[in-house]
Amino acid sequence: MKNIKFIFAGVVFTLAASFLGILLSGRVQLGSLGRAPAEEGGLLFPPREPGLAIQGREVYLSLGCVACHTQQVRPASQGNDIAKGYGPRHSVARDYILQSSVLLGTHRIGPDLANYGARAASENEIHQHLLVPKAGSAMPSYAFLYTRGKDGTLVPTEKAIALVAYLKSLKIDYSSPEAKLNQ
Ligand code: HEC
Repeated sequence: MKNIKFIFAGVVFTLAASFLGILLSGRVQLGSLGRAPAEEGGLLFPPREPGLAIQGREVYLSLGCVACHTQQVRPASQGNDIAKGYGPRHSVARDYILQSSVLLGTHRIGPDLANYGARAASENEIHQHLLVPKAGSAMPSYAFLYTRGKDGTLVPTEKAIALVAYLKSLKIDYSSPEAKLNQ
């Protein structure tokens, strides 16, 4: 019983050290990741998001789209994402370094959107889909993002326009040092 304090301190120390280790190992491994060229002397990737898409990301975040959509293409060895056409290569940590909020997602009720911009329909069709999702789809309607003009036509709000710009900007169309396109 004399040693109880030491045993207790040892347990606390061990738990604290392993907790810190888990927290810090990610930072040590990925904290210094920066933009990098895929080939020597090449352009720096990932690219920055274009203007309106930055606001569209906030709309995506505020509407909870991330609850049903992931933005991470798994390597061929870990799933059939590439075969399904979710992206031309798997996602790597570097793809996310410029993003203010990383929207990886954990549930895939709908398709992965990491490369949605590359397969997206026209802007009009995306608006139409947000307004009226496919029949029987689990996706809710986002009709509140639209108003009616005087002649009865639907007019997208600023939020809808930014959201569509964001969806169109989601592209994996560049190589990264860790994952090259078409390999
Ligand atoms: C409750 C789950 C759910 C939520 C929340 C949700 N979606 Fe979906 N989404 C789906 C499902 C299921 C599909 C596939 C069927 C369809 O196209 O309607 C889908 C399809 C899509 C597609 C077409 C993808 C493709 O590959 O063709 C886009 C784009 C999309 N959603 C964007 C959004 C955006 C933006 C939001 C937030 C404003 C959102 N979704 C919220 C479930 C959801």
